[in-house]
Amino acid sequence: MEVTLKHFFSLLSLCIIIATSNLTGQSVWLNELNLSAMDIGWSTPKANASVDGNPLSIAGIKYANGVGTHATSRYLLQLDGKGDRFIASVGLDDEATIRGSVKFYLIGDKKILWESGVMKKNIPAEKVDISLSGVQLLGLLVTDGGDGNNYDHADWCDARLVMKEPVNPAQLVSRRGQPSDDYYILTPKQTDAPHINSPKVFGVRPGNPFLYTIAASGRKPVKFSVRNLPRGLRLDASTGIITGVLTKESVYTSTLVAENSAGKSERELRITVGKTIALTPPMGWNSWNCWADAVDDNKVRVSADALVSSGLIDHGWTYINIDDCWEIKPNATEEHLKGTQRDEKGMINTNKKFPDMKKLSDYIHGKGLKLGIYSSPGTLTCAGYTASYQYEEQDAVRYAEWGVDYLKYDWCSYGKIAPDKSLPELKKPYRVMRSALDKVRRDIVFSMCQYGMGNVWEWGEELGGNCWRTTDDIFDSWSSMAEIGFKQVGHEAYAGPGHWNDPDMLVVGRVGWGPELHPSRLKPDEQYTHISLWSLLAAPLLIGCDLTNIDDFTMSLLTNDEVIEVNQDPLGVQARRVSNSGGKQIWAKMLSDSTQAVGLFNAGEEGKTPIEYFHWDDTPTVKIRVQGSDLGINGKFSVRDLWRQKDLGVFNGSFESDVPYHGVVLLKIKPVQ
Ligand code: GAL
Repeated sequence: MEVTLKHFFSLLSLCIIIATSNLTGQSVWLNELNLSAMDIGWSTPKANASVDGNPLSIAGIKYANGVGTHATSRYLLQLDGKGDRFIASVGLDDEATIRGSVKFYLIGDKKILWESGVMKKNIPAEKVDISLSGVQLLGLLVTDGGDGNNYDHADWCDARLVMKEPVNPAQLVSRRGQPSDDYYILTPKQTDAPHINSPKVFGVRPGNPFLYTIAASGRKPVKFSVRNLPRGLRLDASTGIITGVLTKESVYTSTLVAENSAGKSERELRITVGKTIALTPPMGWNSWNCWADAVDDNKVRVSADALVSSGLIDHGWTYINIDDCWEIKPNATEEHLKGTQRDEKGMINTNKKFPDMKKLSDYIHGKGLKLGIYSSPGTLTCAGYTASYQYEEQDAVRYAEWGVDYLKYDWCSYGKIAPDKSLPELKKPYRVMRSALDKVRRDIVFSMCQYGMGNVWEWGEELGGNCWRTTDDIFDSWSSMAEIGFKQVGHEAYAGPGHWNDPDMLVVGRVGWGPELHPSRLKPDEQYTHISLWSLLAAPLLIGCDLTNIDDFTMSLLTNDEVIEVNQDPLGVQARRVSNSGGKQIWAKMLSDSTQAVGLFNAGEEGKTPIEYFHWDDTPTVKIRVQGSDLGINGKFSVRDLWRQKDLGVFNGSFESDVPYHGVVLLKIKPVQ
């Protein structure tokens, strides 16, 4: 009989469970609780596995039972004094690299009951066995060990609560500190009359193919026309797609017009033919946060179809970006990923999931959309597929032949090539690809992805990046989204038309890194915060969800034109943080019409002390007051609520609003003479 390791461990845990329940009161195992309420900094908490899904393992010792999580991780349990002991062995999982370091805390009713040392790779598990006597609320916290949360794979092994009396485990998970579950929609219903929503400025290089689609909401069909369309361009009056070529450096001002039976909308468009593209942050979709390596040609096509049929295209969403996993994978076992990496001329091949990239690109362009692709400066991409090292020029040529409009260039395996992480080494591979892209006659947005190393924001523009990731990967948790978003303080000095800070893609809608998807674990108010903050930050907006299955709430988040206009404002200023006190944050972004977009955020008092990682009392709606003087406004100003698209009136000196827990009120503030 074959006895697998799994069987052995299951048997072992069964024995432990029986043994402990007989000796003491009822044992409630952490891995048996509903873990969806555990907030976690990356990926999802796993029962009886590490956060990456491997057997739990600390310093070489394997554990059958427990929970794998990732800093920052917090979980609040409602014991109501019925707990006797908490027992566990904790540490950094062996799957983490030496960059990981974590610290564990057990906090009972605002008091630290126990804390571990800073746990790193190969440090044996620390054992905890503490009394829970009298504890009403127990917080399980893992923080990042003081050096950011890279590889902070933390394990609560053999973790259990020994209870004094029988309890229903489902009732132990506390809802306290959780924002509201109410998926309330603020974006007003669209009008029948058309409204033009595409960017007011557009940059193109002389002689390169021009593609701009007039985005207009309103009842279909909409008829388009353009006054003063520069010679060299033509408009398709039924789709609003403008194509052609402009050969000389110049600035043109055209008037876009959209008409239907219910009305007419006009908008000025400034076309700058010059060196700079991406004059407003790129907006579109990327395959990674939903499909990851499950992406294929069909999923990309149906996403493009859905961007159009859902109406998202009418609000300015443009790019359809294929992330990793379209290339041949060396040493793959899967038939469809095998093949010759490059042809005899060194031109890169696709794997069988992408039978014809040019056809796919034509399909996408035919809809007025643009195509993005992904590579790495190393020999392999992050997921282990063929990358660009020493083939940068061939790859740029190939992208141009295919009609690619956007390249995400992701450091990853280049880490093995670079001798160190000095600034010259960090810059080198991006400079090489920049110069390769400069040789092709196509406008390709250059998105540098290297997670913020060497303060990339300080030199991303000089290197010719159109955007650069400032952070590690985002996940659909408050810890991840809020830590990334609110940490963008100070980066505003480096953003502007053609060069944007990129705090990673959006995690609203159904996400999951494929093939299994789940609704974003961000609560509704947290999703309002996410979209508002990314709009204020002038961040690239790349939707990361399944576009073919998008609910009304998510649609309402992605189609509020007054919010999107904050992101797409032609001035291209990134918001600065005006104030931060007691978790109340105010951010303001100067707009081209001399108004300011202002976000009032109730971020909670996150992380000043371990105790403050939890809300011990009911989740508070707070009042946040913004002073005109903080915005450089003396005297009266008018206030408009952007999510509700509603004027709130004229105020003198200051304005105050209720803001829900983890939520936001997004305003447009204009001085009144
Ligand atoms: C990561 C990157 C992700 C995704 C992934 C693909 O390094 O940050 O956004 O592109 O690689 O393997």
